[in-house]
Amino acid sequence: MIILGFESSCDETGVAAVCTQRGLLAHALHSQIAMHQDYGGVVPELASRDHIQRVVPLTRGVFAQAGIGAGDVGAVAYTAGPGLAGALLVGAAVAQAFAWSRGLPAIPIHHLEGHLLSPLLADPRPDFPFVALLVSGGHTQLMRVDGVGRYTLLGETLDDAAGEAFDKSAKLMGLGYPGGPALAALAGQGDEKRFSLPRPMLHSGDLDFSFSGLKTAVLTRVQSLRKSDEWDDRARADLAAATQAAIVDVLAAKAVAALKSTGLKRLVVAGGVGANQRLRAHFDHALPKLRAQAYFPPLALCTDNGAMIAFAAAQRVNAGLADLSQRDHAFTVRPRWDLADISIG
Ligand code: KG4
Ligand code: ZN
Repeated sequence: MIILGFESSCDETGVAAVCTQRGLLAHALHSQIAMHQDYGGVVPELASRDHIQRVVPLTRGVFAQAGIGAGDVGAVAYTAGPGLAGALLVGAAVAQAFAWSRGLPAIPIHHLEGHLLSPLLADPRPDFPFVALLVSGGHTQLMRVDGVGRYTLLGETLDDAAGEAFDKSAKLMGLGYPGGPALAALAGQGDEKRFSLPRPMLHSGDLDFSFSGLKTAVLTRVQSLRKSDEWDDRARADLAAATQAAIVDVLAAKAVAALKSTGLKRLVVAGGVGANQRLRAHFDHALPKLRAQAYFPPLALCTDNGAMIAFAAAQRVNAGLADLSQRDHAFTVRPRWDLADISIG
C-alpha cells in the first residue's frame, strides 16, 4: 500500500510517498528558513500561510518523482502534533481533504514517533529493541523502544532542549537562525579547550538533562569578552566550539548511561541535532568500545520532513496499529502531545 504523508508542524513543509512493502518512493521538502531569518525565529502565522502555498506543488512533485497518481494512494498520513497549532492544521486539513475526496483512511502521526523511527530508513537499519536519543529543537528525550508503538521514557530535559541550547547560544553569539547548523559550522574552526563551560547534570545519576545553565554561562562569557574587548572572530569560533563540546558531552554521557542501565547495545540518534557531525563522530568512536553501535537517519532526514511521517504511518500499518477502516474525517491537532500517550506499553 502507498501512503502519502504530510509534515507541517513547524517551519518545513514536507510531503512523501512511502510503500508499506518497498519503503520510501519519493519525498519533497520546502524549508522556510529564509523567510523567518529576518525575524530571528519562526513567526507562526507566516509559517501557516507558507505551508498552504507549498503543500500542493510539493505533492505534485512527489507524484511525479514516484511515478504515481492520486489513484495509487491507499492511505494518507499527517503530523497531528506536537507543533505550532496553525501550521499543524494546514497539513491535517490537506491530508483529511485528500483522504475524504478519495475515500481513503487518514492516519494522524505523532511528530516524535516520526523522528524516532526515521533511522529505520537508513542502511544499516537497527533491530528492536534500542535506546533512542531524540534531540530536536523542542525535545530532548531518551527512550527505550521495544517495537513500533512501544516507547518508554527513560529521561528528558528539565528545561531547554538540546536544539534550543544550540539556537539560543548561537543567538547570543550573533549567529543567524537557525543557530544549530551555524554554530556547528563555526565550531569547526575553533578550539574547544580555550573556554571551559559547565556540563549540566553530567553526574546527576539519572537520565535527565538541563541546558538552561549552559546558555547563561555562554551569555556571561560573551559579556566579559566584550567588556575586555576580546570578542573577535577567534573568540567567537572558540566559544562556539566549547558550547558544542559541552552539549555533545552531556548528550553522549547520558546516552551511554541509558545503554548501560537498559543493557541494550543499539543507540538510535534522531531529530535535528542528530545532524551534528561532532555528535555523530563521538558516538561512532565511543560506542564500539562498549560493543554497542550508533544508528542515524540519513542526513537529509534528520531535520523535519514528510518521509518520516509517511514512514511512521507505514510502520503502524505493518504492525496492525493503524485503523484503516476509519472514514470519519473530523479532525483535531495536538500542539502539546506526550509521546507516552500513544505508547501501547
Ligand atoms: O527536528 P528538527 O528539525 O525540528 C524540531 O522538531 O524541533 O530540529 C531542529 C533543531 C534546531 O534547534 C536546529 O538548530 C538543530 O535541530 N540542528 C542542529 C544541526 N542541524 C539542525 N544542531 C546542531 N548541529 C546541527 N548540524
Ligand atoms: Zn522535528
